[in-house]
Amino acid sequence: MWSDFKENYFSFDALKFAIDVSRVGFPKNYFEDKSAMLDKAFADMRSLEAGAIANPDENRMVGHYWLRAPQLAPTEALCEEIAKTTEAILSFAADVHSGKVSGTAGVFKNLLCVGIGGSALGPQFVASALGMPGKDKMAVYFLDNTDPDGMDAVFAALEGKLGETLTIVTSKSGSTPEPSNAMIETMARYRAAGLDFARHAVAVTGVGSQLDKKAVEEGFIARFPMWDWVGGRTSEMAAVGLLPAALQGLDIRLLLAGAAAMDCQTRVPAVKENPSALLALAWYYLTAGKGEKDMVILPYKDRLLLFARYLQQLIMESLGKEKDLAGNVVNQGISVYGNKGSTDQHAYVQQLREGVNNFFATFIEVLKDRETASVPVNADGATSGDFLEGFLLGTREALTEKGRASVTLTIESVDAASVGALIALFERAVGFYASFIGINAYHQPGVEAGKKAAASILKIQARMIEFLKACPGEKFTAEALAEKLNLENSVEIVFKLGMHLSASPTTSVTATPQTPAYNTTFFYK
Ligand code: PA5
Repeated sequence: MWSDFKENYFSFDALKFAIDVSRVGFPKNYFEDKSAMLDKAFADMRSLEAGAIANPDENRMVGHYWLRAPQLAPTEALCEEIAKTTEAILSFAADVHSGKVSGTAGVFKNLLCVGIGGSALGPQFVASALGMPGKDKMAVYFLDNTDPDGMDAVFAALEGKLGETLTIVTSKSGSTPEPSNAMIETMARYRAAGLDFARHAVAVTGVGSQLDKKAVEEGFIARFPMWDWVGGRTSEMAAVGLLPAALQGLDIRLLLAGAAAMDCQTRVPAVKENPSALLALAWYYLTAGKGEKDMVILPYKDRLLLFARYLQQLIMESLGKEKDLAGNVVNQGISVYGNKGSTDQHAYVQQLREGVNNFFATFIEVLKDRETASVPVNADGATSGDFLEGFLLGTREALTEKGRASVTLTIESVDAASVGALIALFERAVGFYASFIGINAYHQPGVEAGKKAAASILKIQARMIEFLKACPGEKFTAEALAEKLNLENSVEIVFKLGMHLSASPTTSVTATPQTPAYNTTFFYK
């Protein structure tokens, strides 16, 4: 094992980062055997970074690497715009912190971030990885859904504080239903508190989008751009992520520098010097290039808890594709889940150790426990942090003993630079892997289809209400109602919508329960 380790442990000291692929079980000469595939991936990445249309389905360039190295952007104008936006974010954050830009009730103390998917997961991850509640310049809250009850919980925490709460509405398209709904609900709360929402609002969105127009019309305090060449899930280092981070008081320059340093290393066209290539190659070998095994993310650090959720989107939304670039049906992807160690050892790690062997683990080891000294917690003088490391190493051994593969990533500490570097590491690994399997990692037709599907369901609901309202008191089963509306193929949807409407205090649609429940009748009161 030690000799395997020496051969497969790659440490990048300037990045304070190491990757250990010794427990992947690469066959002998695997790197050499895959050299043509790797060379193609390096070439694909070079052309992507040079400004090729690397997202052909949307006819777009893919430029998240330029965000931390604007000088690499393909035109002078783009370079200037990136640099100008970062400066504008820093200066806006300074104005908010100093009180030059303030709310109706004075200096902004709270930040409410409205957004979903790529417009929320990065900011949420970075806020919890680097923030210190109580000590941050602003307390950060998120509305990342259209769940009314979830929103109520956030609004309850902000009760009486909206006059000192800055709301950022983030949506690249500017028309995604969830953030749009959450913004409307937020506006209603400000209004109910006698406050002008626009005086407390900022938009991060594509220029000319529905949200952008609204921000202009209503006079939001500021607007920051979201460019079409940055995908939602790779937008942490665009205004999407940098603005909330800077407002929270996090060091966004260091975040960018950490990502830029990792980018430099992951441009090297030699697999053993390129941590993202090593990672992508491990994924390829372990999943047979077909997603045959799930990726379990196990950071042994509370601050990295949300990294698994963040990676779940980055990897699954990028790689989970029906077709390859040539249009063949391939149904690709790698399933990702995870939480944190050692907490997970008291949950699903039982199955990882002894159950179905359908996964590989990615351990994330953080060498530094905390900034201050720790008290001993056992008779040998071991600390809580020693236990955490012990659990990581012990679990890794146990998995290896049972023939379960793992990769280990090591960082020195969780700080802005290492978080930036981790994000950049995985972004590039996703790019390499997409090249290995020949798919477009930068579009999301499934997400777009989901957005449209909800709209057609809501049209059915509107027709149901209109019909019931026209004959108040008259009762209809779902089947009868569907027939009246020529929706015979959607009876189940009519039934489900009827049940939901009648449970809600908002509409006057009422249900008379029947047995069996699917014969329940609905009427307008
Ligand atoms: O990564 C993506 O592209 C998606 O997850 C989007 O971020 C998500 O659908 C939100 O879209 P928008 O920012 O346009 O509201």
